[in-house]
Amino acid sequence: MSNVVEINNLMKSYENGHIKALNGIDLTIWEGEFVSIIGPSGSGKSTLLNMLGALDLPDSGSINVAGYDLTSNKKLNEFRAKKIGFVFQLHNLIPNLSVVENIEIPMFTSNLSNSEMRSKALSLLEQVGLKDKASQKPSKLSGGERQRVAIARALANDPSIILADEPTGSLDSKTSNKILKLLIDLHKSNNVTLIIVTHDMDVARLADRIIEVLDGQLVNTSDDSLLENKIDVE
Ligand SMILES: Nc1ncnc2c1ncn2[C@@H]1O[C@H](COP(=O)(O)OP(=O)(O)OP(=O)(O)O)[C@@H](O)[C@H]1O
Ligand SMILES: [Mg+2]
Repeated sequence: MSNVVEINNLMKSYENGHIKALNGIDLTIWEGEFVSIIGPSGSGKSTLLNMLGALDLPDSGSINVAGYDLTSNKKLNEFRAKKIGFVFQLHNLIPNLSVVENIEIPMFTSNLSNSEMRSKALSLLEQVGLKDKASQKPSKLSGGERQRVAIARALANDPSIILADEPTGSLDSKTSNKILKLLIDLHKSNNVTLIIVTHDMDVARLADRIIEVLDGQLVNTSDDSLLENKIDVE
């Protein structure tokens, strides 16, 4: 197994160093692993996820994801476009584009023709069970349906890693379970590395490994007993 994330002594502060959001993180994540990140509000979970997706640069330390050095400021657009699928709590769909057009956006950096993009977007919509909504505007969809569109969009470039920050935070529990099952199925069938930030321990426990963040540092980075207790969502 090779590692897809290698982080050493990563530091990130805000407000001229007064807020140490990440205070010396060391972390390795294997290709195809499903990891959940938990911790109290303000502990640094989103900051860590943003570093993993190169949405923000660290102050110091090293971070290598999918073979890209994310401290170097080079090729970061290429990295984000090719390697990462993001799913956020607020799905950020573009309101005046149809569902299928929203899914095509990440494909514009690929070499696909228009018709190839369309058929790929439709097959992704089929995977998330929304093919019949392809020409709808996002405003006509329910919260759970929008989140499924966001997941389809996150998969549009065949990312090696899906980063999900509270992907079910705004949804009811039944819809949340559906969304999670979808993410986990995609992770299993496509061997995508899945990294989910969550407040919900029931969600966290579904992962291969739980990572706990406290005051910008990691605690309990591995606990084999959690693997034994692993349960599947139905
Ligand atoms: N852009 C920013 N400017 C200033 N401070 C920030 C910024 N982003 C985050 N912080 C601070 O950094 C710390 C870590 O924030 P972060 O968003 O990573 O927490 P979190 O664990 O994701 O919390 P939550 O569970 O509430 O989403 C907090 O003290 C937060 O206020
Ligand atoms: Mg957060």
